[in-house]
Amino acid sequence: MIDQFENFLKTDNLVKHGLPAFVYTSDAFREIENHTVFTNSWVFVGFAHELGEIGDVQPVTVAGKPFFLVRNDNNEITAFHNVCRHRCLKLIESSGNCGQLIQCPYHSWIYDLQGALKAAPYFGGRDRKPPPGFLLEDHGLVAVSCETWHDWIFIRINGEDTDGGLAFDKFIAPLKKRLENIDLAQIKPVATIDFGVLQTNWKALMENFIEPYHVQFVHKTTTSQPLVDHYTILEDHCLGSGCDIAEDKNKDDLKTLAVSSRFLTLFPNFVIGTYAPDQLGVHLNIPVNAGETRQRRVIYLHKDNPASEKEIQQTRQLWYDVHKQDHAICERLQLGRVSEIAADGGYLSPHWEDSVRRFQELVVESVFPQGDASCADAKMRKNNFYD
Ligand SMILES: [Fe+2]
Repeated sequence: MIDQFENFLKTDNLVKHGLPAFVYTSDAFREIENHTVFTNSWVFVGFAHELGEIGDVQPVTVAGKPFFLVRNDNNEITAFHNVCRHRCLKLIESSGNCGQLIQCPYHSWIYDLQGALKAAPYFGGRDRKPPPGFLLEDHGLVAVSCETWHDWIFIRINGEDTDGGLAFDKFIAPLKKRLENIDLAQIKPVATIDFGVLQTNWKALMENFIEPYHVQFVHKTTTSQPLVDHYTILEDHCLGSGCDIAEDKNKDDLKTLAVSSRFLTLFPNFVIGTYAPDQLGVHLNIPVNAGETRQRRVIYLHKDNPASEKEIQQTRQLWYDVHKQDHAICERLQLGRVSEIAADGGYLSPHWEDSVRRFQELVVESVFPQGDASCADAKMRKNNFYD
């Protein structure tokens, strides 16, 4: 599989067509992404407001592996491999509050909220003493790097800042700069939409979000944002698009999106939309396998926003409808890409889909972190790729 991808990169195809279809449909390529993109990057995994109390836990899947988030007794959210150190059972099965201790249901090994092993009852025999040489402190849960930025929780499986990985402050820097005019400390979550598992590859959902080309066609019933008012945004691993509408004159219309907006992402999977005057939306896209992605959206308003329950429901319905329009398209992309006609990918607009191309280059750079000359050549040629 990796050879197939390398051979593809030796051609001009990435320049003209974007990524080939198999990187969206192949579980073998998904596995390569698990060991590269989703291991070495800061991956968005959850929402801090869902872990509001000390002892709240939430299982999450990253790179196909089990982890869990916990709010510990220092009121910090941390993350661990979701595996008991005794027989490697998946420890946390569902979200909830575990009190002060995490107990394995199999043989009752008990950990505190810092992940330290506190008891391994009868492990050494009838008298409850640990076996000679067995120290509880050597068998605590294994932590992974975890950072919370406002309501958003990220983990990085490979905790090193070397090997091309970014320190967390550098990771969020390009997005932080673009959100400077919003006081993120003043936002509150008002609604969550759980879309469950969608029948499409995670990259299709990300690429769809960062290109404005489809908006006037796919969302003609839910938005009033002319294509000419849009532009793309490319800054390192912060990709997206924006739409500036002169007067936001329809800002009180909750049935269509008709206000100035920014649609921003941090590679690989953090998605945030800002909608004037004071609404935000964040989606969590977690790959399940090559053809399936789990998605949730949380809607935020300024904490002083006087929106009624009815108005919040209208906003929720609008976003439900917008997402469903995107899902239908992304699921059909997945269906089309199993055809041999799709083998080389399609075509990317040199204007509206440059953000998509950059996203795809980041996929390539993550899979080949040491750099690949053919990919660099592709970048240089992209301005005249129809010649
Ligand atoms: Fe869309």
